Amino acid sequence: MLVGTGVIKADAVRHCIAVGELGLDGSIRPIRGALSIARRVAASDCTADTTLILPATNVGEAALVRGLRLAAPVTLGELVSWLKRGALPAPSPRGGAVRELDSVDLSDVAGQEGAKRALAIAAAGSHGVLMVGPPGAGKTMLARRLPTILPSLTDAEALEVTAIHSVAGILDPSAGAVTRRPFRAPHHSVSTAGLVGGGSSPRPGEVSLAHHGVLFLDELLEFPRGVLEALRQPMEDGTITIARASASLRFPARFALAAAMNPCPCGHLGDVSHPCVCAAAEVAKYRGRLSGPLADRIDLHVNVPPIALARLSGRDSGDGSLAVRARVEGARARQRARYRSDAECNARVPGRWLEIHGGLEPAGRAMLTSAGERLHLSARAFHRVLRVARTIADLDDCQTVCEQHVAEAMGNRPRGAATESSHTRGTA
Ligand SMILES: Nc1ncnc2c1ncn2[C@@H]1O[C@H](COP(=O)(O)OP(=O)(O)O)[C@@H](O)[C@H]1O
Ligand SMILES: [Mg+2]
Ligand SMILES: [Zn+2]
Repeated sequence: MLVGTGVIKADAVRHCIAVGELGLDGSIRPIRGALSIARRVAASDCTADTTLILPATNVGEAALVRGLRLAAPVTLGELVSWLKRGALPAPSPRGGAVRELDSVDLSDVAGQEGAKRALAIAAAGSHGVLMVGPPGAGKTMLARRLPTILPSLTDAEALEVTAIHSVAGILDPSAGAVTRRPFRAPHHSVSTAGLVGGGSSPRPGEVSLAHHGVLFLDELLEFPRGVLEALRQPMEDGTITIARASASLRFPARFALAAAMNPCPCGHLGDVSHPCVCAAAEVAKYRGRLSGPLADRIDLHVNVPPIALARLSGRDSGDGSLAVRARVEGARARQRARYRSDAECNARVPGRWLEIHGGLEPAGRAMLTSAGERLHLSARAFHRVLRVARTIADLDDCQTVCEQHVAEAMGNRPRGAATESSHTRGTA
């Protein structure tokens, strides 16, 4: 329009691509998806002398794309004066991404060694974890500390996460790129579209916003079953497909699932200091709300018992996040060496492959087989235990999966009404 009305010459914008939202006051307002746009422009064949003009608020994310010329006016007036002068100034560069200090730490949690150990295993192998315990035991507190023991984002991962958050319109413009692993904790009133994505102009859901990070479902049984069912595809594939009449869209959704629930309706089953008032049938019905297929896809189940008041003030809080993260990074490095790919980790390796190439010792194999027969483990459940055992061995810096690794993995296997038995469900 500016060219058409003679305000600027056509030549001035010949090698420009401009995106933005124009406010009534002439301000150029931020847009969603600027990083994806910048990546597309950079990947096209017109980049050499092309300048991408975009809102100043979006420049941090777009600057992540190397070798692309940018201009970032704050108002339309500013842009017009630049174009008249024939010079588009480059935005000032920003510093690189550094890992910020976390404001919470695993050592904030007193006791709960079993749960902390399960979180370390979950972080090391990218396994899902379900915590079961009474209210006030520290489940939510523990889950919020899971990101602090996960490895730092790689540059490639940071770029992917930033792109998704940009498309969703939740990027903090003052921060530029996302540098920490996402932690998403949707409320149980979330809709299916909110959880997995959707809408008339499809937006990524919580599973995609949690990509490369943690999706935490607190009070798991309060989520409607239909909403939880929608988690199956992303948990299997690491992506989510949103089908529309016009086209189907795919968003990445590779997250570590953490979930928490009470053991019974009143919450105090197994609590010695607080009697449970639920009838056995009520407990069974309550537990039955956890769908077998979902429970089956969460590798680690851990009891989080009530903690004695005296221990809360005690100094027995164990290792801090930094020390645990160092061990997690070590275990990840061993997995990368084994699978020779950045993306692979024990949670996603085919069970058959692990059985053959995973270093399972004869004694470990014997223990796994006999437990599998005794407990009627399905092939899927059998492989899940093996994957967790492999991660425990990696945390141990042990080449082979031994009896003690299998034993510990068995201790964290799913237990629930509808899981695991090959009598009640088909095998994998
Ligand atoms: N193990 C613990 N160590 C330190 N504080 C705890 C612990 N467990 C519970 N708390 C305290 O109790 C509060 C409630 O814990 P929370 O994590 O919400 O429990 P839950 O999710 O199991 O109901 C926490 O904010 C914290 O102040
Ligand atoms: Mg809680
Ligand atoms: Zn109860």
